[in-house]
Amino acid sequence: MTTPEPLAAPAPLPRPPEPAALKAIGTTVRQPAANAGTGEVILDVTGLNAYFGAQHAVRQASIAFREREVTAIIGPSGCGKSTLLRCLNRMHETVPTARVTGRIEFHGQDLYGPGVNPIEVRRHIGMVFQRPTPFPTLNIRDNVAAGFRALPRHRRPARDEIDARVEEALRGAALWDEVKDRLKTGAIALSGGQQQRLCIARALANEPSVILLDEPTASLDPLSTQKIEELVYALRQRFTVIIVTHNMQQAARVSDRTAFMLNGELVEVSPTGKLFTTPSDPRTEAYVTGRFG
Ligand SMILES: Nc1ncnc2c1ncn2[C@@H]1O[C@H](COP(=O)(O)OP(=O)(O)O)[C@@H](O)[C@H]1O
Ligand SMILES: [Mg+2]
Repeated sequence: MTTPEPLAAPAPLPRPPEPAALKAIGTTVRQPAANAGTGEVILDVTGLNAYFGAQHAVRQASIAFREREVTAIIGPSGCGKSTLLRCLNRMHETVPTARVTGRIEFHGQDLYGPGVNPIEVRRHIGMVFQRPTPFPTLNIRDNVAAGFRALPRHRRPARDEIDARVEEALRGAALWDEVKDRLKTGAIALSGGQQQRLCIARALANEPSVILLDEPTASLDPLSTQKIEELVYALRQRFTVIIVTHNMQQAARVSDRTAFMLNGELVEVSPTGKLFTTPSDPRTEAYVTGRFG
């Protein structure tokens, strides 16, 4: 007499939420700042679509960014992170064939409304790119002061005032002590990490309220990366920071909230601890546990 085959495997027990993702990425998550999530909404994105010609790079994205909060945007290469970021300060439209639909409000004002000057937008919503972009022919001081040159004469501060703003911006970017004795030397002599902090200082000199960082440490060594991460963490006391990174550990270390993108879609936006421990969407869980990407 043979034992009958079981008809079906027993149904698996429902799994309690487990911090598998955190184990997978091997890092701890910073506690969100006590005031995270309580600030005013400063940038409000609703139904945003971005295109390159027929290529639909960002699909129906809605997300609000609050004052003094760091949001990380993660997701596999090509999912639309940079494109979303570049829509936030009207950089996307600098690409021929690029197009944007939907609405972005900055302090309640339509960022794409008639009469809005994209140059002014980029002063208020500054951006730092993956590779440091110092002006190679300018010295350190003039690199930081570059934004003032672009101002019409009547809005340009006096020389002493510019010097003071340069110092403040360099202090804000944690670079002052390293360069204060060589402000008149070329920026090109700085290390990659210093150049990146110089670019952050250049953005800070415009007294922005939002800083966009697109993979700011992708070209840097670990020590320089750590300095930038500490800086990002400190900047959130004064600014709204939105940082694109393909590095999940970095997102976990520096951000209050994390947004996960996939194929142009904003799949999930959650407090960083939640996104990496108990994500709401199975696609997020698959990504943060390293099953693809
Ligand atoms: N200048 C461009 N012209 C045409 N297509 C582009 C351009 N930049 C990006 N794309 C396309 O848009 C999609 C999103 O790109 P991107 O926002 O750069 O992704 P990510 O930053 O997540 O790697 C990709 O399919 C990419 O190939
Ligand atoms: Mg990118």
